[in-house]
Amino acid sequence: MEDTIHIFDTTLRDGEQSPGCSMNLEEKLKLAHQLESLRVDVMEAGFPIASDGDFESVRQVAREIRSVTVAGLARAMEKDIRRCWEALDIAAKPRIHTFIATSDIHLKFKLKRSRDQVLEDTVKAVRLARSLCDEVEFSAEDAGRSDLDYLCQVVEAAIAEGAAIINIPDTVGYCVPEEFGRIFTVLRERVPNIGRARLSCHCHNDLGLAVANSLAAIRAGARQVECTINGIGERAGNASLEEIVMALRVRREHLGFSTVIQAEEIYKTSHLLSNLTGMMVQANKAVVGKNAFAHEAGIHQDGVLKQALTYEIMTPQSVGVPTSNLVLGKHSGRHALSKRYMDLGYTLDKKELDRAYMLFTKLADKKKNIYDEDLLAIIHDGIRMIPERYALKYVHATGGNQVLASATVKLSKDNEFFVDTALGCGPVEATYRAIDRITGVPGRLLDYSVRSVSSGKDAVGEVFVHVHFEGSHFTGKAASSDLVDASARAYLNAVNKTIHARESAAARREAKGKHPVPQA
Ligand code: KIV
Ligand code: ZN
Repeated sequence: MEDTIHIFDTTLRDGEQSPGCSMNLEEKLKLAHQLESLRVDVMEAGFPIASDGDFESVRQVAREIRSVTVAGLARAMEKDIRRCWEALDIAAKPRIHTFIATSDIHLKFKLKRSRDQVLEDTVKAVRLARSLCDEVEFSAEDAGRSDLDYLCQVVEAAIAEGAAIINIPDTVGYCVPEEFGRIFTVLRERVPNIGRARLSCHCHNDLGLAVANSLAAIRAGARQVECTINGIGERAGNASLEEIVMALRVRREHLGFSTVIQAEEIYKTSHLLSNLTGMMVQANKAVVGKNAFAHEAGIHQDGVLKQALTYEIMTPQSVGVPTSNLVLGKHSGRHALSKRYMDLGYTLDKKELDRAYMLFTKLADKKKNIYDEDLLAIIHDGIRMIPERYALKYVHATGGNQVLASATVKLSKDNEFFVDTALGCGPVEATYRAIDRITGVPGRLLDYSVRSVSSGKDAVGEVFVHVHFEGSHFTGKAASSDLVDASARAYLNAVNKTIHARESAAARREAKGKHPVPQA
């Protein structure tokens, strides 16, 4: 049996489904390219039937990503499967991933179908998918709570129809490791044609066991693991890609499996996702958290200085964590900046470098020490991926514990300037009200967080907002050594995303009017 584990990344589908993690097309493409650099084996790009936006992003990922298998999700229904194939047919390596629930709870309350009917749906779905696409994956949703004899029957039928990958999800994160591993052992023992398929696991983290369950599945015969970057996903999330990959790598001798993941790209991918979604990882998150390699206790520091192996089971470099050396200052030139970005794994084109350099010199005027984290904040915040319809020209805000706060904001749009003033409970609220008055796109703040990205009192602060606009909600982010400036630009980032989404939807509607998309 092969000892390479295939990594199936579902950040763009199961991950993106989780609240606060939605991404627009440009953001999804940026992440898809980074997943390609990380060398995942498969990326699930979305659920094409879910919406026109989802269809478009799966199609675009399928068009642009050439070296990795691109999967699209489809319920075991004809209209889903046909729509999925429409999105995928241009992919270099397409895979239709079709699923249906097999647990009695789902059959009775959700599908309202009998076991025989679900078995029949499985056969029809896999048959249709295989008639369109050479590679088909079948998932038995809620397999973790399904009757094992029935699961064996469904799996056998799916393989007989040509499913080459059989995925066993613990959809509700209910299983414990021995129990989950046993499902794989039983499938391998009882399903006569099991040798014709690759077994896969897909674990949710409701009890914090998603990674442990995935490792148990691997030990019992799974050769594909479905997971997400930073473990994002429905409810408590999915199994975290970085934790599985590093567990397999660090404990290779014990576990005996490897992946082809480029582990040095892990930190960059994690950081990119946090910046795209505004969903930060907790400081003590394994592998990619801010404290994952920080040694605080004196006894630990002493040990690490004498020999890193005393308290470090993997090096920060092995997952691409930049070492926070003081790198650049006020007098550093464009060449040094470009070189440092290259060391951090970013090759900037001329336009990006010009913008990064402009932001860097602005920051260096305010702040003496520029750290790698500051440079990463510049690149993720300053180099916009969506058109900046409204740009901040200045913000002046006052506040205090005895006065009503006020803010004056000047914005530009298409070479025109707009100024307005507003009052608020604090300087940030006053600033947001002034912005709302200018743009006429009022937002309701759902979430606001700030974190310092580097050290010192003059540290750069990164602000993330989650804003509800009429009919949609968007995240925004910005970094600055001034909190009001960062807050204003984070909010504007969300406003600009809304405007961009509304414009793109209008353009799509217009194009559809000219060339209607056929519906199954
Ligand atoms: O959790 C789940 O069961 C899923 C399936 C669609 C694979 O995400
Ligand atoms: Zn899932």
